[in-house]
Amino acid sequence: MAVTREQVIEALKKVKDPELNKSLVDLGMVKDIEIAGPNVRVTIALTMAGCPLKDKIKQDVKEAVKSIAGVEEVSVVLTTMTSAERAKLFGQEPSEMEGMKQVKNVIAVASGKGGVGKSTVAVNLAAALSKRGYKVGILDADMHGPDIPIMLGIKERPVGSRGMLFPLEKYGIKMMSTGTLAGEGTPIVWRGPLVNKAIKEFLGHVSWGELDYLIVDLPPGTGDAPLTVASTIPISGVIIVTTPQKVALSDVRRSVGLFLKNDIPILGIVENMSYLKIPGSSEVMDIFGSGGGEKIAKAFKLPLLAKIPIDPDIRKGGDEGRPIALEENERSEPFFQLADKVIELVEKAKSNKK
Ligand SMILES: Nc1ncnc2c1ncn2[C@@H]1O[C@H](COP(=O)(O)OP(=O)(O)OP(=O)(O)O)[C@@H](O)[C@H]1O
Ligand SMILES: [Mg+2]
Repeated sequence: MAVTREQVIEALKKVKDPELNKSLVDLGMVKDIEIAGPNVRVTIALTMAGCPLKDKIKQDVKEAVKSIAGVEEVSVVLTTMTSAERAKLFGQEPSEMEGMKQVKNVIAVASGKGGVGKSTVAVNLAAALSKRGYKVGILDADMHGPDIPIMLGIKERPVGSRGMLFPLEKYGIKMMSTGTLAGEGTPIVWRGPLVNKAIKEFLGHVSWGELDYLIVDLPPGTGDAPLTVASTIPISGVIIVTTPQKVALSDVRRSVGLFLKNDIPILGIVENMSYLKIPGSSEVMDIFGSGGGEKIAKAFKLPLLAKIPIDPDIRKGGDEGRPIALEENERSEPFFQLADKVIELVEKAKSNKK
């Protein structure tokens, strides 16, 4: 007996969206059913890209359709609802950047190349600002190497409701990561031509609540990914992280050029792994040569916001999920200097605007 479309719909009526607790059919999430003999292909439109419950929905659909007599193979294709479809479902579409409404300042942390300590700077800046009494969030927008959850020791995955996602919280800092959302491995949606759309969709649907500062760990490099994120969110200023080597500096030059060309304001440069303090002495060792950050800052007429030494405790704090700048002391001081500079520059920019 041939499998019919009606049978598939009947089966899908029993599958509920775990969050909205209504059947996928009633929610209008079933976009397409293709039947080829014993093989069935179902296309389901999720309420949002990267829905945290997508694996469960996929599994439930598969099981339901498989239970129909005569069905052998079931494949499930996931797509995302259009704004209009979502508006119909929820009555009202969360407006673009809805979740950012109460975010006062967005500081993006960028680097011309990977591995220079961008995430380390981002997470410690967030910690220092939080320690200063501000309401702080951090967004890990580096989907190819999402390290922020590890650096904050966050293992849970975020939950969503009615098309919005809620950040997780640790040490009083709110956190959302493209990586936590995706789970293990990099899902297809974060690669290739879909990446721009997915980033926008994702960024617009995180419910941050009230924040003084949102720190964004941008993807490294001078390509499409950092620019897409930076031009999607209303950024108060970008911090560019570099190490003092020559190669790192030529990457900074490109990075600075990228933001300037796109009218995204740059707050300044942070030179990371600047020098090594010899334990027990006042001696300082320039591992990668000195003055690189100063040179770049001068060339672009940008402030050098901080010089951060190489310190095993900084790395350890990252590995153990307890950023060094959760406490203010001699070792974490450079991050507090950075935080104070950022506060000063942001306030100044605001009063200039008035
Ligand atoms: N000032 C520092 N002292 C000691 N270790 C550091 C310092 N800054 C960063 N590290 C370590 O260097 C490594 C790379 O840093 P991090 O992950 O922050 O760089 P990134 O630029 O974000 O890299 P990626 O491009 O991979 O995202 C980490 O192990 C981190 O703990
Ligand atoms: Mg990183």
